[in-house]
Amino acid sequence: MKIKTEEITKSDILTDVLNGLSKSPKMLPSKLFYDEKGSILFDEICELDEYYPTRTEMQIMQNNIKEMGELLGEGTMLIELGSGSSQKIKLLLDHIPGLAGYVPVDISSEHLISSSKVLKDKYPHINIFPLAADYTKYFELPLIDKHYDHRAVYFPGSTIGNFTKKEAKEFINRIADIAGENGGLIIGVDLKKDKHTLEAAYNDSKGVTAAFNLNMLNHINEELNSDFDVNKFKHFAFFNEEINRIEMHLVSEDEQVVNIDQSNFSFNKNEHIITEYSYKYTLEDFENIANDRFDVKRVWVDDHKLFSIQYLKVKD
Ligand code: AVI
Repeated sequence: MKIKTEEITKSDILTDVLNGLSKSPKMLPSKLFYDEKGSILFDEICELDEYYPTRTEMQIMQNNIKEMGELLGEGTMLIELGSGSSQKIKLLLDHIPGLAGYVPVDISSEHLISSSKVLKDKYPHINIFPLAADYTKYFELPLIDKHYDHRAVYFPGSTIGNFTKKEAKEFINRIADIAGENGGLIIGVDLKKDKHTLEAAYNDSKGVTAAFNLNMLNHINEELNSDFDVNKFKHFAFFNEEINRIEMHLVSEDEQVVNIDQSNFSFNKNEHIITEYSYKYTLEDFENIANDRFDVKRVWVDDHKLFSIQYLKVKD
């Protein structure tokens, strides 16, 4: 099993950080949450009582997996963006009849190598073509030396919510190019709901989300040798009802200066850095994001309408 690598480099991170902190308000890209510690904290978030998306998505998968596999159909080359949750992918691998192969795409080659090995041991008959790449940017599929009928992209976890609406549309259009003729998309989309449930999910009582948010500054310090004082920032998350999005911020508790490479950035007391948006969609809003290039063919939701999984097909 060969791994194709197009990983992000330190200089990509430096560019993203310098650009983000030069904006007003200051911003940092949410992909910087995920160093080793950040990935562990994210896994912990997924287990929290208040964080409903992960278990709800899993329930929807379990209840409808047979239909999902059949809709994807014979001869599918399955491409997973962000090969995170092995539980969910195993369900799909088990239920797509005549699956032609699996292409996991992940930003971390270490994570990709270990998760691909685990899957290869469990599914020795499945062709796996791992690709280490930042799927939020342009990437090319690895060489697939196996015949297949059509491609289908799997994008679980409602990560689409972490893009702005404009970025989400551009990204979904790019997925249509990757899926190609006759291609499909199975996507997890978190739904709009009451402010209380949403704010609890991003301000959990154990403080795991706060630690996850603050860890981004440690990650940047390690990558770029910068000097963020993590103790002088605090976690802040709220639901912005006008634009239907959770906003995660880090708030400077003091006036301070942070040095990064040759640059320095001043912070006022109570100045905010935006670290993440998590958009919550109505079914109609999401259809408007997808319908340039895709037809929504099937939507599965849980009994409480917290979360949706949607099957879309590339338009002819
Ligand atoms: C990865 N993403 C879908 C998560 C979300 O809910 O937007 C990231 C997250 N941020 C805080 N908690 C979880």
